[in-house]
Amino acid sequence: MGSKLELVKYQNFWCRSFRLKDVIHYQKHFIAQDTDIFIASLPKTGTTWLKSLLFTIINRFNPDHQPLNKNSPLLNHNPHELVYFLDHGIYGGKPPLPSPQQLQQLPSPRLLQTHVPYASFPKSIKTSSCKIVYIARNPLDTLVSQWHWHLKLIKNWVGDLDEFQPPSIEDFFKEFCLGRFPSGPYFDHVTEFFKQSLQQPNKVMFLKYEDLKGDHVVSHVKKMAEFVGFPFSDHEEDEGVINDIIELCSFNNLKELEINKTGMMRKLIDNKNFFRKGEVGDWANHLTPSMVEEINILMQEKFGDIGLSF
Ligand code: A3P
Repeated sequence: MGSKLELVKYQNFWCRSFRLKDVIHYQKHFIAQDTDIFIASLPKTGTTWLKSLLFTIINRFNPDHQPLNKNSPLLNHNPHELVYFLDHGIYGGKPPLPSPQQLQQLPSPRLLQTHVPYASFPKSIKTSSCKIVYIARNPLDTLVSQWHWHLKLIKNWVGDLDEFQPPSIEDFFKEFCLGRFPSGPYFDHVTEFFKQSLQQPNKVMFLKYEDLKGDHVVSHVKKMAEFVGFPFSDHEEDEGVINDIIELCSFNNLKELEINKTGMMRKLIDNKNFFRKGEVGDWANHLTPSMVEEINILMQEKFGDIGLSF
């Protein structure tokens, strides 16, 4: 494999070796503000979706964004352009991304995103009164989504696929179970944030991709808005604002936008790759019964005692 794909272990999580210095820089130098809102997640668990939802929730009173479904910046920007990625976006990025110094001047509340596990968060995030919204997704769909992403990345980074052997789902499955993927292991990452959400319920909110896909999406979006300090008023509820936001940020709506069909993110990756299938249960099309059984056993082992299930 090309060196860009090489992984190193740092503080019990895996990281692309060429990005480690950005992660360490972020960890050492980022200064959180009490009003910050962080989106935390593992890759391919619904980060793009959560960015769209929270960006819209906290900016919904901005007159430049009105009306939401006609003037929202989401209609002509990929969600990743609107919500900055800290670990190897801001730290390690180039203009037009703000520098770490400019980041300090952004108006509050700053909405920012990270894939780093909780234990390795910059100290000031842990000690400030900021809010953290974590999104988790069942391991089977996370694994399948990561595999597809990995194949696309190889194409973008390595260019000529013929020169390299893309991993089979079997090989990728083994690596996933060993936790060897950027920000993995899966079970440690999810468990840590789940525990933090129990210990610090005013600071960490734990959401599941599957909950947002389910019938109770409205109540989850309502709770999230309350949690980050932008609750919906009765009037807004009566006017259907919550449903408008859900519709604006829906997979089908975002996927079909020109910016997400033809645009590129930081000249690195086609925006369309962030919107693949957007379903719960696609794992059934890719994984064998024995793979599913192995992950189910791991889930029972790792999540059983803490009362977490997918
Ligand atoms: P699939 O590969 O299963 O389709 P992330 O944003 O963390 O990179 O996660 C990407 C996954 O979320 C992809 O899953 C992608 O299709 C899905 N996704 C992106 N936007 C979504 C949306 N608005 N609603 C639901 N799923 C979405």
